[in-house]
Amino acid sequence: MSEPAVLFVDDEVNILKALQRLLRHEGWNVLTANRGSEALALLDQHPAQVVVSDQRMPEMSGVELLSSIRQRHPAMVRMMLTGYTEMNVAVDAINQGEIFRLITKPWNDEELKATLRQAFDHYALKNEIKRLNQVSREQNLRLQDMNRNLEGKVRDRTKQLAEKHQELRIAYVQTIRALAEAVDAKDSYTRGHSERVGVYASKMGREIGLPKEVIERVYISGLLHDVGKIGVRDAVITKPDRLTPEEYEEIKMHPEIGARILQPVEFLSDVVSCVRHHHEWYDGCERGYPDRLAGDSIPLPSRIIIVADTVEAMTSDRPYRKGMQLDAVERELVKYSGSQFDPRCVDVMLRLLEDEGDSFIKKDQKFDIHAFLEV
Ligand SMILES: [Fe+2]
Ligand SMILES: [Fe+2]
Repeated sequence: MSEPAVLFVDDEVNILKALQRLLRHEGWNVLTANRGSEALALLDQHPAQVVVSDQRMPEMSGVELLSSIRQRHPAMVRMMLTGYTEMNVAVDAINQGEIFRLITKPWNDEELKATLRQAFDHYALKNEIKRLNQVSREQNLRLQDMNRNLEGKVRDRTKQLAEKHQELRIAYVQTIRALAEAVDAKDSYTRGHSERVGVYASKMGREIGLPKEVIERVYISGLLHDVGKIGVRDAVITKPDRLTPEEYEEIKMHPEIGARILQPVEFLSDVVSCVRHHHEWYDGCERGYPDRLAGDSIPLPSRIIIVADTVEAMTSDRPYRKGMQLDAVERELVKYSGSQFDPRCVDVMLRLLEDEGDSFIKKDQKFDIHAFLEV
């Protein structure tokens, strides 16, 4: 930075010369002018931090000069150097905030220097405050900008994540479906059985008013309820005649085998017990398996699935019989309500069959994953 500059304005040349002499060694650039107009012209060429003006001068008074400097160079520090006779004018000017300090003639050399030093410091301080204000204003703007950007980014990312999550859930359900279809394919008579049990069970869940995530669990459990049949011999599963007691024991293993197959799959952990208990009897009698649980200790999805499973099986053709009519199915449900089935689940199923009739057991229906998972 160039050396600090001070401009003295006085119509007495001797005073200007004396001031120049006095300040020769201070390291300041000392500018002088005889009158107001000259001072203004000079300042356009040589900017100064401090101006010190006499009051009584021809053409333009000191107060007039300083107020026009205030307009053109607002940052400049303005002072007056004046005799006692012009004191009143100078005091007025100070009171109006025009002037930083007043120096009286004749001046004390050291005081004058000290006052000038203060004026330069004052200028530097004001400048620094202005600079800091500017910096903080710019930083604020930048921060606002960053905030806006960040909000947008977070919104975009959240949307992308939600979409990815949705894709993953759909892929997950499709994978489970493929597995269920593989199980059903072991026997041409049970093709589509698992999907339909899942659909019937999910409709029951909705009718009961279960929360969405539980309905999803009910559907998935329905899809997977017979997955353990993978571990049962095909000859037993596809046997068209009555099963021997030994063969029946073999079939009865499928809920346990299913639970064992699903056990290691972490994201199916809440489905495992639903699969394991889908052949328990509500009254806890020995015909239920594998654990002879009773009542509410049987998971609700299992109690739902056993009803859905029974309706699906009874209404489908088998090698040894045709699918049953709905009224016969309803009679069976009522007959076993409270023993094999949870009466509440039977009521829900009867309501659905009443409302939907034969369309409830349509063979080609599939669970609409996209509609269901739509957020
Ligand atoms: Fe089963
Ligand atoms: Fe089944």
